[in-house]
Amino acid sequence: MKLKFDYNNMMDSAIGAHGIKPSEISAASSLHSAAYKEVVENSGRGWQEWTECPLIPQKEIDELNAFGAKIREKASSFVVLGIGGSALGPICVFNALLHLHHNELPEKMRKAPKIYVEDNVDPERMASLLDIIDLKTTYFNVITKSGETSETLSQFIILYNLLKKTVGEKKAKEHIFVTTTVGKGALYNVAEKEGFKIFGIPSGVGGRFSVLSNVGLVPFAVMGVDIQSMIAGARAMREACERTDINTNPALMTAFLQVKSMQAGKNISVMMPYADGLKTMADFYCQIWAESLGKAVDKKGKTVNCGQTPAKSLGVTDQHSQVQLYTEGPYDKVVTFIGVENYGATVNIPAAETSDVGNFLKGHTLNELITAERKSTEFALTKAGRSNYTIILPEVNAETVGELLMYFMYQTAFAGAYLGIDTFNQPGVEEGKKATFAMIGRAGYEAKLQELNSLSKNDAYIIK
Ligand code: PA5
Repeated sequence: MKLKFDYNNMMDSAIGAHGIKPSEISAASSLHSAAYKEVVENSGRGWQEWTECPLIPQKEIDELNAFGAKIREKASSFVVLGIGGSALGPICVFNALLHLHHNELPEKMRKAPKIYVEDNVDPERMASLLDIIDLKTTYFNVITKSGETSETLSQFIILYNLLKKTVGEKKAKEHIFVTTTVGKGALYNVAEKEGFKIFGIPSGVGGRFSVLSNVGLVPFAVMGVDIQSMIAGARAMREACERTDINTNPALMTAFLQVKSMQAGKNISVMMPYADGLKTMADFYCQIWAESLGKAVDKKGKTVNCGQTPAKSLGVTDQHSQVQLYTEGPYDKVVTFIGVENYGATVNIPAAETSDVGNFLKGHTLNELITAERKSTEFALTKAGRSNYTIILPEVNAETVGELLMYFMYQTAFAGAYLGIDTFNQPGVEEGKKATFAMIGRAGYEAKLQELNSLSKNDAYIIK
């Protein structure tokens, strides 16, 4: 494992009364073994097929790379249509591993098509996309685990229709490939009928745990991401997260520390990477943490209404926006810093034009500055008695990103096991999806529409 996890500042020795005592960790050994067993002993079973993603055979990686190279050769733009777990993985990996201004790079410097991950149905966004892509040379990966999600299906219908008009029926089919559950759902049926290339999602891999399945691997292959190294990283982290001793298992330990803090009233989990390339990694974390742990009942049916609200923050930018609150506001947060030892570029700070402006910075690098700022914020929070821990990446590359993603998945699974909840369902999201079907008039949802219509609004509470 290349990543390092430093949880000193979660402990009472660093932050005093708000910290966790070593005895609290050792006294919970039966909880650790129960959480460990629930996750590790169920590896590959039920909704835990995601643990097997890093075991993908070499032959499949080679096939994905060959497919990706073919699309890359002919595409000017590549568009991913998906939402939630079918979009956030691709978004955070592209953010981390492609040039930060990939789409703006001159064509010669860009080794892959322009990339757009369309995870909303804002009509202005669709119209804007259509203004800038050339359908004749644009390829679309429609990703939906259920094959039924209104947002993704509507995007697909709009774009397939336009493609047929622009390049003709036969060619349009070559511009679309789908990633979905084989044999199930509306998208699968259409894909079969139309003859689109289909990539399967294993039935036991849920949306937010799917980044290392075809949901992520297909778009990564198209964009030339080194999926071999990413899988190697994920495999190394899988091994680390399956260590039995909590003191050497990063996901089990940090899941426990988070849950323990949550139970002591720290209901907010701030994810604060110090790298622009990891900015959307915080979005990935926010989804997996929120949707997995925010549950009304536990596995025994007892009402628990548990969860820890994730918040995203970017170092150093948000030091000038949110850190005041983190340092002096309520003791209701755990801050996770993500630091990078070696950034992908080194930028020197030369002597200032006017000798007395910022002279103290002269001879340093932006690399030193961002690292000093991370450590200083960590120091300030710790001094103020605030729970925080740091994940260090030696550098941001396919391998370390694979490790980080796998760690988040294990950490979430262990946290859910400590809480005794079903980590892998999302009844709250499903309810909204059904209500949308009803409002849009889908057959079979008439009762839901009636329920919706029965809710009346009191005009007295509407200010115009
Ligand atoms: O994690 C989840 O299960 C959800 O966020 C889904 O990914 C999201 O609702 C999209 O669902 P689907 O991939 O079925 O279109």
